[in-house]
Amino acid sequence: MDTVSFKDGKVLMIDQTELPNELVFLELENYREVARAIEELKVRGAPAIGVSAAFGLMLASQKGDKKVLEKAAGRLRQTRPTAVNLFWAIDRVLEAAKSSDNWQKAVEEEVQAIYREDREINKKIGDNGANLLSDGDTVLTHCNAGALATSGRYGTALGVIKRAVERDIDIDVVCTETRPVLQGARLTAYELVEDIGVDTTLIVDSAIGALMPEIDKVVVGADRVVQDGVANKIGTYNIAALAERHGTEFYVAAPKSTFDLDITIDEIEIEERNEKEIKEICGCQIAPKKVKAYNQAFDLTPSELIDGVITEKGIEKLDR
Ligand code: MRU
Repeated sequence: MDTVSFKDGKVLMIDQTELPNELVFLELENYREVARAIEELKVRGAPAIGVSAAFGLMLASQKGDKKVLEKAAGRLRQTRPTAVNLFWAIDRVLEAAKSSDNWQKAVEEEVQAIYREDREINKKIGDNGANLLSDGDTVLTHCNAGALATSGRYGTALGVIKRAVERDIDIDVVCTETRPVLQGARLTAYELVEDIGVDTTLIVDSAIGALMPEIDKVVVGADRVVQDGVANKIGTYNIAALAERHGTEFYVAAPKSTFDLDITIDEIEIEERNEKEIKEICGCQIAPKKVKAYNQAFDLTPSELIDGVITEKGIEKLDR
């Protein structure tokens, strides 16, 4: 199943806010709708955001006016600040439009290339990461870095697990619920059980310390990999620190399109989201309306805590 695709002049995507209860497909007809879908987490996960933004630009290019393309790029850039794939994909498409006489065709070709590459790359990440896993391993993952976080099929961290299962490596998986919006419980547990078919246990985020002695390897995704660390879903840093305390190997799985090696972790812009996401669960109020809530969507894990970044090229070490 495709997380996001382009068919008959429209962007088709799974509405991830409805999962796991309902499988709803959205048909988006213009870049504004794509931008809103990214902001509202209907599509989320670094590679999926990049591919969706590229498809949004393809919709804009169909208007036949380069100014609309530039306006669309500006709007899409404002959606979410942390995952670099968004900016990487937009820059790639604009560059293609700039350097060709037939700019509409160039946009279409570049967008299709971004989509195709995303699918090929994830399988390679999965293969490289699966080499690190052994029979009997219990693997912990956080948030959702699965097929739903990419354009489909494998995902990054879950691609590692999926390829291991396809290669008959006997593992079991622990996934965190990932508050506030439960990407782990709603999306990762769903993929692990329904698609990958691996023995899976769901835990609350606060159980990580208690359970870390049972974990052999941690594999998570990333929104931005920089010189000296990574940004990923809030809670990743806690997991990395606990993994170090218990001598557990900690890996990040991410495509090269998530790398931004010109900067360091202090320079990453971390998204702050609406406090409603903390004070409500699935639309149900769970905290006093008057209380303040602080909703930082991502945190920063320094490279000292990371054993390696699993990419399509192999396992890479960051500067320490
Ligand atoms: O807020 P989200 O759901 O977009 O956050 C997603 C993550 O943090 C993922 O781990 C990351 O984007 C990697 S997805 C392959």
